[in-house]
Parts: sequence; structure tokens; C-alpha cells
Amino acid sequence: MKKKLRYGLIGAGSNAEKKHLTGYSALPHVELVAVCDVNQEKAKKMAEKYQISNLYTNYTVMLDREQLDLVSVCTPNLFHADISIYALNRGVHVHCEKPLAISAVDSQKILDAKRKSGKMLMIGLNNRMTNEAVFIKQYIDEGNLGDIYQAKAGWRRRSGIPGRGTWFTNKQLSGGGVMVDLGVHYLDLVLYLMGNPEPSYITGSTRRTYDHTNLRNRNGYAGNPNGIFDVEDSAVGYLQLKNGGAVSFEFSWASNIEKDTTFIELIGTKGGISLVDGRLKIFSEQQGTCVDIVPQLSPNVKLLNEFEHFTSCILSGEEPLAPPEHGVYMMEIIDQFYRSASLGQPVLLSRRERTAAVIYD
Ligand SMILES: NC(=O)c1ccc[n+]([C@@H]2O[C@H](COP(=O)([O-])OP(=O)(O)OC[C@H]3O[C@@H](n4cnc5c(N)ncnc54)[C@H](O)[C@@H]3O)[C@@H](O)[C@H]2O)c1
Repeated sequence: MKKKLRYGLIGAGSNAEKKHLTGYSALPHVELVAVCDVNQEKAKKMAEKYQISNLYTNYTVMLDREQLDLVSVCTPNLFHADISIYALNRGVHVHCEKPLAISAVDSQKILDAKRKSGKMLMIGLNNRMTNEAVFIKQYIDEGNLGDIYQAKAGWRRRSGIPGRGTWFTNKQLSGGGVMVDLGVHYLDLVLYLMGNPEPSYITGSTRRTYDHTNLRNRNGYAGNPNGIFDVEDSAVGYLQLKNGGAVSFEFSWASNIEKDTTFIELIGTKGGISLVDGRLKIFSEQQGTCVDIVPQLSPNVKLLNEFEHFTSCILSGEEPLAPPEHGVYMMEIIDQFYRSASLGQPVLLSRRERTAAVIYD
């Protein structure tokens, strides 16, 4: 029998339980060896539920002792970089939650450590791995949309702050508000589907409206009335691409809209695709007329499983489909999105042009 991959979890919070422990505990070739959380009670609860015998409150001690093959990093965003780099330097593969880090600089440090270590790192961008996303990616890569020249992405909630006053609303710990939380998923999704095209400039606008009330917390997220709330709860923007393409986006944790919604739309010379609240549609032409196509993807057939995918990449040496290079690309866009929002004007995105563009500095 082949040796099982020795797995450790760092950050035993809600995402760790919903995603990572559920996902990895279902894989026969993975052994859940250790769990770490600075909050011992949380680590203990998770260890008991998933029958994990080794419990830590310090990730360096866990990584030094346990001879792990793979860890999940599910802590607040600020700690992703230090933990991922420590694990990679110890020769451990890393499944790091999104965003890769709180800035492009930190993301680049992770990428450098990954390259030096020869180990794998995959970002937990699960929206790339839904049946719809897998279908769309293949459909686009086969050339069915032609040249994509317009796209939009959005995720808007009416009352969905993930706990006012928790680390999510504390800029130092999170790196940003809804743009870093939901924007990282859906702006990433459209750009990934387009093949991560080179950006040209970005215009961003942010607003914080609900820092004074607990009314707009997401269901089940209590929040801390005395905690810090210094991030945006809504974000809109426009990204111009070097190839002439245009991408618009809008995200909110809370806003006065009828209902929560998620959407992406990609429009190309040969066809268009929309995915609105999970409903996939294709728009094209056939036999001299416009046609709508509604693919019927079976929810019972999972086209891609994030955890199987990453372990199979570890075993085969194939690059995972959400590598750290994509995290650096996204955090460069997000850093300049915030810069544009604070300056109140567009910001150039190409690194070379940005240093030359005195007008925006
Ligand atoms: N992919 C997704 O859909 C998705 C969904 C939710 C959250 N996330 C991401 O998952 C991560 C965690 O989010 P969450 O909702 O689980 O937060 P959470 O607050 O529920 O859990 C975070 C846990 O990390 C622990 N922690 C803090 N610092 C630590 C450290 N230095 N070492 C070990 N443990 C530490 C905390 O005690 C807490 O238990 C974030 O990066 C978030 O962006 C991703």
C-alpha cells in the first residue's frame, strides 16, 4: 500500500471545517495528523470531531515536529504569508486560503519561497472548481467565444457582513473588506476564465456604510460590537486590459438591493456566456439566427474536487490550477484598486509603466 500523505491544518475556524477538513477527511490517501490554532479550544474541538490526535497552538512547533507532507492555511489573511513561507521552507506543500496574502509584495514572497522549495502551493479558489466554471473554462479554451472583449463580475449581498468587528473588518488582519473577501473570488473567476490577461489601468471606488450597526451581519455571524471596522463594505471598479478588453465589477457585503446575487458575464466575438446566481447560459448564432443555449450540468457528477485535485498534483508533479503566480497577479490588481480608490483617479497597472507614470504618483 502506498504511504498516505500526512496532513496538518492551521487555523481551525469556520472555513477549515466547512471546506478543508470535510474535503481532506474524505480522501483515502490522506491521513489527518495534526491541527493547530492559537485558540486551543477551537483546535481541540476540531481534533475531537475529526479524530486528529496531535494538537498545537503554535504552527512552527507543529511543522518542526510532525514531518507533514501537506498543510492547509486557514487563518486570517495577514498570517497567510508567514505561515505558508515557513511551511514551504520546511518542505511541506501548502493549500492556502484566498487571498494568497494581504498585498502583492507578500504574495511575491510566498511565490519566491515556493519556487525555492520545489514544493506546491495552491490557493483555495473554490469558485474556479465548480462544475459551471470547469465547463466554461473548457468552452472558452476551445475557442467557442472567439475574442473576449467585455466581461463583468459581481457578488452583492443585502445583509452579509461576515461579522462586524471581527478580523474580516479589520484592515490590518484582512488586507481589505469586501474586495478582498468576495472580489478575490469573482474578479479572479472572470480573469482566470479569460486567461489572466495583462491589465492596463484600473479605476476603483470603495465605501463603508455599515460600520455603526450590527443589523447587516450575515446570518449566523455574530460579530463584535467593540471590534474594529475600518474596511469597505462595498466596492465597484473598472479594469482596462492591454488587449483592449474591458472588465467591470461590483461587490458588496451589505447594500439596499432586492436580494443577494452573484454574476459573471463574458462577451466575445463568437459567443457570450453568463452565470447568474448559478444559472449558466450561452448566447451565440446558428443558421443565421441568434440562439440561447442552456447547458444541463449534472449536480451529481462533480467535474473537479479541490482536494483530490491538489493531492493528485502533489503526487504527479502537475501544477495546480490555482498557483501562487495567479495570487500575485490578483493582489497587484487589488493593491492598485485600493490606490485608485484612495486617490480618486485611475491608476496604471503595468509595473514598468507605473513607475514611469509620474502623473498618477
Ligand atoms: N474559499 C472560501 O470560500 C472561503 C470562505 C471563507 C473564508 N475563507 C478564507 O479562509 C480563511 C479563514 O477564514 P474563516 O472564515 O475560517 O475565519 P475564522 O475566524 O472562522 O477562522 C480563523 C481561525 O484562525 C485562527 N488563527 C488566527 N491566527 C492564527 C495563527 N497565527 N495560527 C493558527 N491559527 C490562527 C483563529 O483562532 C481562528 O480559529 C481566510 O483567509 C478567509 O479569507 C475562504
